[in-house]
Amino acid sequence: MEILHVSAECYPMAKAGGLADVVGALPKYQQELGHIAKVVMPMHRTKFLYDNEWEVSHKGSFNMGKNYYEFTIIKEKSNKLGFDLYCVDINGLLDREKIYGYNDDAERFTAFQIAVLEWVSRWKHIPDVINVHDHHTALIPFMLQHCYAYRHISSIPTLLTIHNAQYQGWMGWDKATYLPAWDTWRWGLLDWSNVVNPLASGIKCANKVNTVSPGYMQEMMYHANGLESLIRAESFKCTGIINGIDYEVWNPDTDTYIIDNYSYLDVEEGKHLNKKKLCDDFGFDIKLPLFVFIGRLVQEKAADLLPEAISRAFMESEDKFSFLILGSGEPWVENALSNLQHTWFGYYNSQIGYNEKLSHQMYAGADFLLMPSRVEPCGLNQLYALRYGTVPVVRRIGGLRDTVIDFGDEGGYGICFNHASVDDIVYSIKRGIELYKNKKQLKAMRTFMMQLQNSWEFSAKKYIELYQSL
Ligand code: ADP
Ligand code: GLC
Repeated sequence: MEILHVSAECYPMAKAGGLADVVGALPKYQQELGHIAKVVMPMHRTKFLYDNEWEVSHKGSFNMGKNYYEFTIIKEKSNKLGFDLYCVDINGLLDREKIYGYNDDAERFTAFQIAVLEWVSRWKHIPDVINVHDHHTALIPFMLQHCYAYRHISSIPTLLTIHNAQYQGWMGWDKATYLPAWDTWRWGLLDWSNVVNPLASGIKCANKVNTVSPGYMQEMMYHANGLESLIRAESFKCTGIINGIDYEVWNPDTDTYIIDNYSYLDVEEGKHLNKKKLCDDFGFDIKLPLFVFIGRLVQEKAADLLPEAISRAFMESEDKFSFLILGSGEPWVENALSNLQHTWFGYYNSQIGYNEKLSHQMYAGADFLLMPSRVEPCGLNQLYALRYGTVPVVRRIGGLRDTVIDFGDEGGYGICFNHASVDDIVYSIKRGIELYKNKKQLKAMRTFMMQLQNSWEFSAKKYIELYQSL
């Protein structure tokens, strides 16, 4: 079957978080299963854009409100990603450096979605399914069915994949005029709480909806940033499929970002050499257990708790340890985390910003990876940690609960806690420190974790089954 993924991000073209990793991997695994999977995304001005060759696939134009736009669809020439990658260029709107965070994001992503449908509506054939990802692309199911211009392709089934229901793309009703002429009797399919809510519209209009773990699917019925009753009403067409990880990109045996490659057979030596590099770079004692946090410094990830939790753990713990942070986000959290460097010099360090290479080195060199998330639809960091033999220390929530079992429970291999609270984080760090003293148990756990199967192979099949049910 032919699948068209529509997304704001795709690794390695443009990445802000896990959405990019998923959209950069799932299509590749779907191709390997014998299907045709394509990705279309906005043409952000990234390094990948300039480092690669592109060919023009299509040119078109459309009106959005009072404005007229011309767009170009370009395709990456070499097919090096294992699937066809298309980017939509709309001069002045999409060709920017950042993926999100502009005042006109509503215009930008609405224009992107219109351009995608303009393009698809001119294909000689139609794709078997359109898989839209998150609110940036969630108006497509509505437009496909209720904009007059797309009536001839309205039979294409759609799947909405929700990676995060916290962000919904809310826009005022004045922006509804951006959509190509549509059947205004259907206004209710765009509306949620008196605004146009693209994610809610996607949930109402897509043929099926999935999210990125079974656990988060259940949680969304009670915690979905205002969409709970909608999720419950539409639950008959909703399902949860756990994310996989790209075993080609995230493989300690071949990873070119890390100092020493290793597998589960030589995990102790491999992790030691990678840890040495981190300790040398950040001024830590290699003998101490090394904890890391990698991620967006936002409420959802409970990053606001880190400064107090880390300080209290340093003060309360009888044993010493090191802590390294990599992330960016809310300015006050960034500042608080940077300031800790002075207080806990030699034991704590932070790197504020985005650094793909360092993230790989941290998965490889750390002993423990902390994820105290308040909301975690799936979480990929813990899966990368497992693959690199790093013990995940996670809150039991969403995808974290689905993928990590506490080492105190049967078959367990991680450290789990219940609350996104300073107390639970401090207690879990102390459990990690105790575990670190038991070298035999830690080694057995690392060897076991590295052999767990979290590849996309299994979940890619589940997506295909879901498409087939459409
Ligand atoms: P989310 O998408 O909610 O941010 P995920 O756990 O699904 O969380 O995925 C996060 C991805 O982004 C992982 O690949 C992680 O390594 C990466 N990442 C997050 N912050 C940074 C950063 N500051 N530098 C490098 N990689 C990062
Ligand atoms: C979102 C979620 C994260 C998930 C990722 C990929 O960013 O916050 O939990 O892993 O999407 O699906």
